[in-house]
Parts: sequence; C-alpha cells; structure tokens
Amino acid sequence: MIGKTIDVVFKPAAKILERNYMSALGVNNTTAIARAYNSLRFGKYHEYRKRRYRENFPELIKENGNPVAPVNEMKDGWVIDTSGRLPYLEEILRESAEIIDERGGEKQHLRWRPFFQDIFIEDYFPRCPSILNFATSSDVLSTVCSYLGFIPTLSYSRPYGVRLVESWNKFDDKPDALPRESQLFHLDYHDKPMVYVIVVLREITMERGPFCFLPKSVSAKAEIGLGDYHTKKGGHRVTDEKMYAVVPESELIRLCYPAGTVLFIDSNVCFHYGSRNAVKPRHLMMFAYVSTIRTDFGDLVVKNMRYPVRKEDSRLRRMILDREYLPR
Ligand SMILES: [Fe+2]
Repeated sequence: MIGKTIDVVFKPAAKILERNYMSALGVNNTTAIARAYNSLRFGKYHEYRKRRYRENFPELIKENGNPVAPVNEMKDGWVIDTSGRLPYLEEILRESAEIIDERGGEKQHLRWRPFFQDIFIEDYFPRCPSILNFATSSDVLSTVCSYLGFIPTLSYSRPYGVRLVESWNKFDDKPDALPRESQLFHLDYHDKPMVYVIVVLREITMERGPFCFLPKSVSAKAEIGLGDYHTKKGGHRVTDEKMYAVVPESELIRLCYPAGTVLFIDSNVCFHYGSRNAVKPRHLMMFAYVSTIRTDFGDLVVKNMRYPVRKEDSRLRRMILDREYLPR
C-alpha cells in the first residue's frame, strides 16, 4: 500500500526522467536512480529470487518438468538454437500464424516506430497457450536463469515480456530515410543483465530487415571506443559510421535464419539494431526477462502487461509470471 502511494508521488518525475531515451540526466545516471528506486520497492522479491536460484534451482526445474533437449549456454552474451528441439516450438509457430493472420499486415499502433509494431494482445494468452508454455519451459529457463544468476520475471512494461513484432517498411511514410530509432545501434537500458529470447516465426532474409547484433566482447570494445555512450552528451543511438570506426563490421551477426530458430541474447551488453529496409515483413516472437529491480521506470509509466497464473502452476512458472510472487 505504502509502495503504491510512493509510486503515485514519484510517477511525474519518472515520466520526465524516462522521456526521450532518458535524455534529461543521461542513461547512466537515470538507470542508477531507477535501480535504487526499484530496489526499494521490489528488492525483497529480487533477494528471494537470487536465493532460490542459488539454493533450489535443480529442484524448481524438476518440479517444472525436466528439459527435453540439450540446454543451451549463452557465451559472449548470446547463443542461437537451430535444433528445432525446444519444447512448444511447433505450437508457437502455428498459434503465431493465427495471430499474424488476424492482426498482421495492417497498422495497429505505430506511435514510436513507423516500421515496427507489436501485434500481440493479452487476449491471446488463453487462446495460444504455447506462448507462455514455451516462455516458462525448463529448456528456456535453464539457459536464461543460469546466465542471469537469479530467477527473473517476464517484463511487465516497455518492452512487454511477450511481443509478436512485425517489421515492414510499407507502414513507414519515409521508407527510404536513413536508419533511425531502433534501426540504429544501441544497448537496451531496461535492466542489467537482461535476456531477450527471440523466436523466428517465418524465415528471415536480408530483405526482411533482420535483427543484427555485436557479441558482448565486441560491444564492450565499442563502448570504450565511443567514449561517452549513454552519458547525457553521448546519447542512446549510434550510427554505423561511428560504430564501424571503433569495431569492424565483420563482427556483426545477422539473424537470417529459418522459422523455429531461437536467439538468446543479453540486449543490455550486445549492441543491436533491426528492421532496416524490411521490404518484406519480418515476424518475431520476443520474450523479455528482467529482474524485479529493473533499471528503468517502465513499470511506473506505461500500462502493465499481466500474465495469467493458475493454481496448479509450478513455483518456477509462477515466479516468471508474477513479479511479486512470494510463497505464503
Ligand atoms: Fe533494443
């Protein structure tokens, strides 16, 4: 109750701090303030999640159902699974196709980026159970949690923990403009560390504006080379020209893969961009895993996504779906 009152009082300031990619104080300063704020509000849940990972993870995985495929390990900030063996993949491809048929190909809402839209809405959770089954599967969570070192939650806000994103320059009124917004290199600042799990829903080629990234070690060199990245002066987006002045373009990894490929990536430490020149549509399912003490004010300033929790759900699944899960 007190926490909610503090949120109401702080919300106007949070909106100002978040505005225009945290430009008022710069990303580095703002994320430090957000971390302190969220630690105060949700620190006890994070401590619980760290402890459960350290002390009980094998037991939680067993209760959730043992992995069915060899577990992937993220190295240098990422790993790509091309085995097609992750659970619920086939179902995700089928159920996503229904969503794309129903809501894709038409402008839904493109407030921030005219070339990119999220066509997922919460109404699909009951109709498309494979989405949360995949996101909470032991195969996916073993990779995600062992990288993070704690049990995360699906993000409640920007970016939502579950998105079905459609990139297509036919929505863009300036399709030939130079890369802008998320078409430019950047590091996400929502949490540190954080993991995106990205499922390729339909084969991606260069004409579909692939998601592109630099590994963690290369990105670290880039950050040093850029000098003032994420300071008030350095800003959030980086042009190719600036990036390739400090690291070679040959290090870039393009997510041009067939349907069913899954990328696990820490988007906070791997510079990335996407949706450039998508003359044909690109469809990805994107899951965002963050801590309860994230480094932005997203949960405070945008409408939160909530995930359905059932009585019979395992403790691990509940923790992923409910930010404030604590056993009685
Ligand atoms: Fe991003």
